[in-house]
Amino acid sequence: MNAPRDRVAVYPGSFDPLTNGHVDIILRGARLFDRIIVAILRNAEKHALFTADERVAMAQDVFREYANVEVESFDGLLVDYAELRHASVIVRGLRAVSDFEFELQMALMNRRLGPDIETVFMMPAEQYTYVSSRLIKEVFALGGPVTGLVPDGVEERLREKRAST
Ligand code: PNS
Repeated sequence: MNAPRDRVAVYPGSFDPLTNGHVDIILRGARLFDRIIVAILRNAEKHALFTADERVAMAQDVFREYANVEVESFDGLLVDYAELRHASVIVRGLRAVSDFEFELQMALMNRRLGPDIETVFMMPAEQYTYVSSRLIKEVFALGGPVTGLVPDGVEERLREKRAST
């Protein structure tokens, strides 16, 4: 249950998989808001490496000791989900100018769909500004090291996934 004035944020994304850049943003959000809900899109891509349930489990494992970080999956419109969870803020990470155009479009569309919900952009620590889930998957698939760029548990799950395919 939310306390009456709890400021709840959702941090939506595909998280296929969660990277240390995501973790950095989530921890910053956890300091800024009373609660932050990591909201993992169920049908993000048909060709996701991990199922939504696997992505949720990996993120829950990373944040199990953080009382104000929750991890869930969602379907449908983000603003509907945010309203359902009484969240007034959508957090998105901005790494570089190249992120900005798409993020601006999404923020303005979400504002039109849910005028009471504010999008807040946060910058990750500079050592993660080049890290993306897509590059992690590519480097790992080709045998490159991703240690330090994803949580240890995620690296382990990547190894398991590679062994099973
Ligand atoms: O990690 P991603 O893939 O950049 O995240 C994109 C995400 C999940 C935030 C976006 O696709 C989304 O919010 N999808 C839910 C459907 C929706 O509300 N679409 C309109 C948003 S403008």
